[in-house]
Amino acid sequence: MKNSFILTALFVWFYGSMIAQHQEDSFYATMSLSDAKELKKKHPSEINIISKKRNEAAVLLTDLGGHLLHEQILVHGPGYIYATSEDEAIKAIQQSYIQKVKNVADYTITEDATVQKVLPIINVDSITNHIKELEAFGNRYHTSPSGKQSALDLKIKWEQIAAAYNRDDVSVRLYDHERTPMPSVIMTIEGTELPDQIVVVGGHLDSTSRHLTDRDDPNSRIAPGADDDASGIATITESARALFEIGFKPKRTIEIMAYAAEEIGLVGSKEIASAYDAQNKNVIAVGQFDMTLYNGSAKDIHFVEDKGVTDVELTDFFESLLDYYNSEGAHKITYGFTSCGYGCSDHHSWGTQGFRAAFPFEANFSNSNNNIHTKNDTFSLIGTANHAVKFAKLCSEFLIEVAKDSRKTLATPSYEKDNYTVFVQNKVLSYELDQSLKVEQLQIFDVNGKLVFSSQLTDNNGTMSLTDLVTGVYVVSIKLTSENTITKKIVL
Ligand code: BES
Ligand code: ZN
Repeated sequence: MKNSFILTALFVWFYGSMIAQHQEDSFYATMSLSDAKELKKKHPSEINIISKKRNEAAVLLTDLGGHLLHEQILVHGPGYIYATSEDEAIKAIQQSYIQKVKNVADYTITEDATVQKVLPIINVDSITNHIKELEAFGNRYHTSPSGKQSALDLKIKWEQIAAAYNRDDVSVRLYDHERTPMPSVIMTIEGTELPDQIVVVGGHLDSTSRHLTDRDDPNSRIAPGADDDASGIATITESARALFEIGFKPKRTIEIMAYAAEEIGLVGSKEIASAYDAQNKNVIAVGQFDMTLYNGSAKDIHFVEDKGVTDVELTDFFESLLDYYNSEGAHKITYGFTSCGYGCSDHHSWGTQGFRAAFPFEANFSNSNNNIHTKNDTFSLIGTANHAVKFAKLCSEFLIEVAKDSRKTLATPSYEKDNYTVFVQNKVLSYELDQSLKVEQLQIFDVNGKLVFSSQLTDNNGTMSLTDLVTGVYVVSIKLTSENTITKKIVL
């Protein structure tokens, strides 16, 4: 009797103190097990490892522990991801993110004429100026006054851009959060035909420093965050501006998002993605733009492939866009692959909710900008936004092809039928084009928009053997030097 009383008292005391501690200055999170162990070794009172699975741990972390993790253990690299409760943290590591993908859409490449208009007008100076504007806040840490101000100012900037092009189908709102005083900013371009289907592109507006004093001391706040991630915000902004300039009106709704508080564990995007999920919002694709400025690898764009987090088909589609639109010429963009291996950015918030997300990144993970999270993450240390221009081109292509242009009749060049014939018989493709048309290149895409065959053309007529292609439906696209394209569906 007495024993059980003591046990109960102990129990109440133990949990009471846990809860008290939690309310004061701790929070639940998931993170890499090896980092958690290292932190535990150095600062045993700042972290409790509650549960583990493979190399992932559910932890109770003090605020100080979170800071020490970034300052002493990571340069950049696996941080932690905020969880609302112990239960959520444990579930998150058990699930290993394998979920069924919702909201399947077919991704196709059909908007050549519209894309050809937008590519030449992506403006490097707009991107440069916007990055400098954001850098000038000095610090966009989610709890700093300038972090919040940057969100209020971005809302005004986006409204002004939309107004400059007389777009009354565009609205901008602040999205207030529970776990950070900083709001996210969302620009909505209302779809003309399928407004309930939403295409998202985003980046994070907040910045951080791995040095505590730089981040938190009111006298020395330094976290310019030019590459991480003013560059992403400037990239998606320029992409939207260019779409307005050509008068693009999407059939589906586009949402451009500047997330708050990414740097403390994806807080802003997590609240948005889970609210969208709870409201059954039909988000059909998400593109993440986090770090587009630093050109550190031989290839231009690197697609992050994280199993169960980034979507394979959507990533394939991004590749197809580059194959189709950027394989050569003035807008040439090369690409490769990389991986984070942890929830390194906001695509993770969408991916783990079961939405399709892809993440084109500035370099191979190991060659990416080493100055992030320091006072040296500045524009001047990089000097040009030419790299970011490539991401803005890809972002525009993505938005045009996934949301599709509702002014189709205006956008498609018309060719007289008897200007050309393209047909296939016994897997041999024959083409004959009027001599007035100058031919450049012949490409064949499968139904997913993936490039499966490509050949330079010098003659206006000829044949091509397609025995290497499996039976099915394809699209033949003949590029003409006048930047126009003839497309024809064929069945092999
Ligand atoms: N932009 C970085 C992510 C990043 C850095 C990706 C370097 C690839 C290479 C992002 O803002 C970030 O810092 N993420 C944190 C994790 C987050 C959950 C706090 C990180 O990587 O430590
Ligand atoms: Zn960062």
